[in-house]
This record gives sequence, C-alpha cells and structure tokens, in this order.
Amino acid sequence: MSKATNIVWHDAGVCPEERQEKIGSKPCILWYTGLSGSGKSTVANAVDRLLFDKGYTTYLLDGDNVRHGLNKDLGFSDVDRVENIRRISEVSNLFLDAGLIVSTAFISPFRADRLQAKALIGDERFIEVFVDAPLETCEKRDPKGLYQKARDGMIKNFTGIDSPYESPLAPSIHLSTNCDDIEQCASQVVDYLLNNQFIK
Ligand code: PPS
Repeated sequence: MSKATNIVWHDAGVCPEERQEKIGSKPCILWYTGLSGSGKSTVANAVDRLLFDKGYTTYLLDGDNVRHGLNKDLGFSDVDRVENIRRISEVSNLFLDAGLIVSTAFISPFRADRLQAKALIGDERFIEVFVDAPLETCEKRDPKGLYQKARDGMIKNFTGIDSPYESPLAPSIHLSTNCDDIEQCASQVVDYLLNNQFIK
C-alpha cells in the first residue's frame, strides 16, 4: 500500500512486449538464494558473463553492491532484510519491464519474502536458483572472514549462525557448489534457460 495519495498510474508509451521483441530474449529473473559463501555471486557472475557474451541483454544485482547504494540504510535485522528483498524485487521488476534477463544474488533467507518476490514478478518469469552448500562448507570457505567474526561474537544476526536461513522447498534450479564446479553450475543454469525457451 502506497503512503502517497492522489497518484495515478501512467501506462508506458513503449510497452514491455515491444522492448522484448527488440532485445530478442524472454525477460526473466534468476533469483539466486543461499548462505553467505555458498557461491551465489560467483555462479551469478559466471552465468551473466556467458549470457552477455552470447549477446543477451542482462543485468546482475548483487547483495554487497546494492547495500553500498540503494539499500545503504538497511542492516541485517529481520525487518531490514525483508525491506532489502522488497526493494530488490521492485527494482528487478523494472529491469524486467525493460526487457532484460536479470540476476539477483542475495541471501534472501526468508521463504515468505521469496514468495512475495515471485508473486510480484510472476510465476512464469521467476526462476528460483538454490545455491546449496552445507553450512560447514561455507564456514570453511569463509571468503570474507565473516563466519569467524560471527563465531567470535563480533557480528550479530549472521545467517546460519544466529539468524535463520530457510532453504527453498521446490527451487526451479538446485545447484550444489559442494559437488559441482562453477562451470558445471553455470551450464546447469544456461541449460535451464535454453530448455524453457528463455534464450535460443
Ligand atoms: S539478505 O539476507 O538477503 O538481506 O542479505 P544480502 O543483502 O544478500 O547481504 C549479504 C551479504 O552481506 C554480508 N553480511 C552479512 N550476511 C549475513 N548476515 C549478516 N549479519 C551479514 N553482515 C554482513 C555478507 O558479505 C553477505 O554477502 P554474501 O555474498 O552472501 O557472502
């Protein structure tokens, strides 16, 4: 519900279908979700590079980066994470209207928020990608040293330690970065896009 009153929706002069036809791919969102250190950003970047090099118009929204700008007023309380994901969903939806293949790499730990994003974006365009790696593996990788800080009590509300992560129950794509390397995970995603006619 908007706070503002007296606002009226304007239909776009150039409609999404026209943009889509010009760009040549079916817009969709690859919604990567997983623990910190599971490999979301790495896989998302690898897929984005493959698609871009094939000539598709893509854009990647990444958790750490978006939190430097648009969402720099948000922390990691449950309430802030909900707002983080809400804003990302809205921004992604705008990129979809522009005709792009959008990737988002956010922990997005709560099922309800991912469902809400899916409801906003539409079932047929929302591709949930579960970047799965056991907590022990992510903690061992600890690429930013954040798990250690969380264990030492220097970071509060760290996902998987003292803040929950709710795994997807039926993701469109299930990647296992514990078993498969980045190239294998990336081609699993690209194959899904091909098999479902998002790309040719
Ligand atoms: S969320 O849960 O979707 O709102 O998180 P997201 O916007 O993806 O941001 C996750 C990145 O922020 C860093 N970081 C933390 N993650 C989890 N919990 C806490 N408390 C925290 N503090 C900082 C961390 O680098 C995450 O990046 P990734 O790429 O997931 O490791």
